[in-house]
Amino acid sequence: MLKNCTDSLMRNTWVEIDLSNLEYNLSQARKMLKSKTKIAGVVKANAYGHGSIHIAKALIENGIDMLAVACLTEAIELRKYYSDIPILIMGYTPSDKLKFAVQNNITITIFSLEQAIILSDIGEMLNKEVTIHIKIETGFNRLGLKIDSNIISIIEKIYNLKNIRLEGMFTHFALKTKETDKIQYELLMNVIHKLEAKGIYIPIKHICDSIGMVIYPEYHLDMIRLGSLMYGVQTSSKKEGSLRSVMTFKTEISQVKEIQAGEGVGYDYSFVAKKKTIVGTLPVGYADEYMRALTGKGEVNINGKRAPIIGKICMDQCMIDLTNIPYAKVGDEVILLGGNSKDGITLDEVAEKINTNRNEVLSVISRRVPRVYIKKSKPICIVDYLLD
Ligand SMILES: Cc1ncc(COP(=O)(O)O)c(C=O)c1O
Repeated sequence: MLKNCTDSLMRNTWVEIDLSNLEYNLSQARKMLKSKTKIAGVVKANAYGHGSIHIAKALIENGIDMLAVACLTEAIELRKYYSDIPILIMGYTPSDKLKFAVQNNITITIFSLEQAIILSDIGEMLNKEVTIHIKIETGFNRLGLKIDSNIISIIEKIYNLKNIRLEGMFTHFALKTKETDKIQYELLMNVIHKLEAKGIYIPIKHICDSIGMVIYPEYHLDMIRLGSLMYGVQTSSKKEGSLRSVMTFKTEISQVKEIQAGEGVGYDYSFVAKKKTIVGTLPVGYADEYMRALTGKGEVNINGKRAPIIGKICMDQCMIDLTNIPYAKVGDEVILLGGNSKDGITLDEVAEKINTNRNEVLSVISRRVPRVYIKKSKPICIVDYLLD
């Protein structure tokens, strides 16, 4: 049993995380891969809002090869629970924090000889082999070792450092066009081929994220880094088949009242009733990351019926128009996000309304919102970050 599991829900705003659907999506991904292609489960940003500890547990139970995060603290959070699984930090780790990463057996991404030398010295001091991946700059211009006339000799030096195990090499697609992605792939492979000509073989070469995996079977290399697709975010090609939504964001009505024509609702009275209106109050707001940008645009689903958000979304609460659902009452369950468009509110719909991408909508759900984990339609565990 994981430490931070409670058995009762202390707040009536929560997200449900369906682990069976996560497993299903992972199996859809596996169908697209050769059996020897590894999968790094991307669990950064609290597993895109789904809760990294429990998502990692499900992934490990499903034979994931590696976990991938953005930064050291995310890696350490996972390492406290899982001592053996390789954990890759895909982002930058400041040099003065590298020792802590090595002590915790974290696989570190580097893109400079300087950091490799520091890591080699740390390895020597701790009598440990330090596992690294080198990120190559191929066009995204975010992080990576620049390709120039020195790159092969730099990597050779890194490879020959004591206590360093050069396990991986990767880059990240900008996904601009097939042509630009091909250029990025070829730039990476060109470096790899030159290294191989010198007898340096990199065991885990990787380039694809979810979209890359789906559209470029020819670029899968040794591992793919799978994030959004696991969480049910469909690619535009839909070649992965129909995915299942993993997260459903829910709340319950906390008050119902009738207001008359001319009465306002919320800050600035930005909604003024044109006729007699039934107003429902929901205990969820932008601090939970029920985003303020949904003001005037958002809708919720109550038992298959839609109700629009009225007035400005507050930090902790918001109001809905229940006039068309007059039987709705305090305690009724409300779907804010998740499921399909008939019984729920799709991720695509919310992302489109606030003009952002779907990963952002998922990953920002606040830690104030408890996560309820569900498997085979049964709740198995509740995580309340504020109480555990
Ligand atoms: C370097 C890197 N690899 C893989 C991923 C996973 O991407 P996706 O969620 O599209 O699968 C990300 C996510 O942003 C990333 O930054």
